[in-house]
Amino acid sequence: MIQKVDYALLGTLAVRDGMLQMVSESADDREKETINREEYTKLKSHVQEIVRQQFSLADTANVRAPVVRSKFKTIAENSMRNLGIQITETDMPALVQKLFDDILGYGVLEKYFFDSSITDIIVNNTEIRIIKNGKRTIAEDKFEDIYQAHTILDRMLAPTGRKIDSSTPRVNARLFDGSRLHACVTPTAVDGILITIRRFPEAISVDTLIKNGTLSKKLLEFLRACVAARQSIVISGGTGSGKTTLINAVGAFIPYDESIVTIEDTAELQIQHPDVRRMEARTANIEGQGQITLRNLVGDSLRMIPDRIIVGECRGEEAFDMLQAMNTGHDGSLTTVHANSAQDCISRLLTLTQMASMGLEQAAIYEMIAGAVDIIVHIDRDKTGQRKIQHIVETAGSDISSTGVTHGVKLNTLWKYDRNNGWQWVAEEFLRKEKLIEDGGWKCSF
Ligand SMILES: Nc1ncnc2c1ncn2[C@@H]1O[C@H](COP(=O)(O)OP(=O)(O)O)[C@@H](O)[C@H]1O
Ligand SMILES: [Mg+2]
Repeated sequence: MIQKVDYALLGTLAVRDGMLQMVSESADDREKETINREEYTKLKSHVQEIVRQQFSLADTANVRAPVVRSKFKTIAENSMRNLGIQITETDMPALVQKLFDDILGYGVLEKYFFDSSITDIIVNNTEIRIIKNGKRTIAEDKFEDIYQAHTILDRMLAPTGRKIDSSTPRVNARLFDGSRLHACVTPTAVDGILITIRRFPEAISVDTLIKNGTLSKKLLEFLRACVAARQSIVISGGTGSGKTTLINAVGAFIPYDESIVTIEDTAELQIQHPDVRRMEARTANIEGQGQITLRNLVGDSLRMIPDRIIVGECRGEEAFDMLQAMNTGHDGSLTTVHANSAQDCISRLLTLTQMASMGLEQAAIYEMIAGAVDIIVHIDRDKTGQRKIQHIVETAGSDISSTGVTHGVKLNTLWKYDRNNGWQWVAEEFLRKEKLIEDGGWKCSF
């Protein structure tokens, strides 16, 4: 009996078993390989040994630094000469790179860290998937076996001081380029090892923000003047609306002779400035110890003599401390708040502050907000993914009712976006106009 061959099924199985990958790498790829596997193994252990002898602790801790790379290159080239391995000038860089990746780097994963179109790297045992330009695909490479995947994971974790093994089978870490890594091994990972890496997004330049319609040149000039005139700014918006990106852009306007301390849950800010000291909070360990809150860090930052404090995102009790800092000499500080509008941002700040200030009256908190916050910038992301500044408001003191009770913060809308006219200046009066012109160098055209 002749059995019908199901090629589709065979293809799927081949991918599963790593066969298709061998096929797709194809014979001519392998022909290009200038040294055979045996020679490569010999060369690798030779280089490995010399690196072990000649690399200082500082070198090992900083393998991607240009000076260390060049030291490695010399070792690799000398080793080839000593072992009598012939290789053409053109093939040399690729071979040195492969040796580097395998000996000091992240092995087959290394190259994905240098491709800006790749946002995620996902390892399922030996198999590697990448998300490139938003599309998930199976990578051409894979780990030879699970031990190799373990070796690379250990190497990734080594500089972070974290360990993973069967007694602590889960780990979160930040890698050399700011990428976040989550990994688990057996028994949590049923089949051996799972690694997920979310690449650190590249900072978006101000030019790009203007080109892609997030804001206009005039708005940017306005924000630059606000920063120069030491206005405390809160950026409000939903998740993924571009708050952190905007704070990066605005933070770069801080004069270079001022000192910045940044405080974040997860370090993601990339402020282009020569004097940034970065702090990151920490969750409690499994024994419930060692927690360091944003609140702790805002407290610490006050003792670090900064000119400006930037809290990546206020989402808890730290709002109270941040407002207090803004009220006591750290004007010109920046933060973001998750809110649906500038008005909502005030309610949100009230709620967050109430979490920390046992018994402080609402009226007192509103006064605190009005005293601390100067400008609120609200940014939004629409259904198509377009990010846009929707409005910019200034605070105009406490809102006091006819009976003398403070029941809010007055907001004065300055800029407003609408689809037909773009960004328009809508304020009749602007309380901070003189200050912005005099201290911020704002060229007001109205
Ligand atoms: N104005 C923008 N234009 C295009 N992409 C943006 C913009 N702002 C943010 N992004 C992208 O959206 C993602 C989330 O941005 P982020 O600033 O972290 O948002 P948020 O802090 O509001 O959660 C990032 O990957 C970033 O690259
Ligand atoms: Mg953010």
